[in-house]
Amino acid sequence: MLSSHLSLAVSLFFSSVVAQSCKLQFDGRVPVTLGAAGFNAPNQIFGSNNVLGQGLKFSQLVKLPAVAGSLFDVNTVPAEVTISDKSIFNGQTGFRRAELIPVSNSGTDPSTQGVKTLHFSVMKDGQRPLNLSHEYQLVFLESNDFSTNQVVLKTGTILGQATADPDTLQLFSNVNAPQLLFSAKFTPGVFHNFALTLDFNKLTTQVFFSTGTAALESVTAAIKNDVSGQGQFHFGVLKKGINGVGDITKNGVQEADIDEGIIFGGIFEEDSSTGCVSLSP
Ligand SMILES: *[C@@H]1O[C@H](CO)[C@@H](O)[C@H](O)[C@H]1NC(C)=O
Repeated sequence: MLSSHLSLAVSLFFSSVVAQSCKLQFDGRVPVTLGAAGFNAPNQIFGSNNVLGQGLKFSQLVKLPAVAGSLFDVNTVPAEVTISDKSIFNGQTGFRRAELIPVSNSGTDPSTQGVKTLHFSVMKDGQRPLNLSHEYQLVFLESNDFSTNQVVLKTGTILGQATADPDTLQLFSNVNAPQLLFSAKFTPGVFHNFALTLDFNKLTTQVFFSTGTAALESVTAAIKNDVSGQGQFHFGVLKKGINGVGDITKNGVQEADIDEGIIFGGIFEEDSSTGCVSLSP
């Protein structure tokens, strides 16, 4: 009895702070009115110049699939990022990549200072499956000097590792000393909702997770992780080549005629300096 009273008291206490009322740092939720063409021009949501294949426009790779909104999409819509043979960014022939970066996230802005919680949801597109023989990065923070990724969500066969089940979402700490922070089966037809509390002072990362419309739950403690170095948050598909030697941005096998994508929803970041973390909308 005592413990159930305690947990009730705890949940009542938290219910006052877990609804989405935390101060926003950026909002990458896509208004219905934006449309795919809206990603080409300067807009309030995502940068219109990076990251995409040379000569491409975002409207050629962003799709707005007819799927229900993710947990935190309230009057906003999911957006899919796709890659093709043309997704060669900045001469990186070893990669195929396209990513969205929140427009206010310059690399030195407050989104990588203090204590912030990054929210995003990911879902497979059954029409545009990934090739799980490859490693993919779907969400990552790249440091402002481009020397590391301080946190990265991967799927597929991770290079240099014996991946037991490539059909898994695997969240890693700073790739300079990668630890698996959390993993979950990548189930078709459902959104996988993540929130990452990034403490840029204490250098820790705490993971919250749920699927579908369930409220987020804490799935890790605040784990020591070097999130220093500021930088930019990327949301998209970065496919690495196979058997690349040396500079893998330039080397590695990439098959032709690909059409692959991942659906994103509910991208935003909130200020958690007061402990505020939204677990449901
Ligand atoms: C997936 O990648 C593997 C490894 O490079 C390759 O052998 C295979 O042909 C690819 N499958 C498709 C459908 O492209």
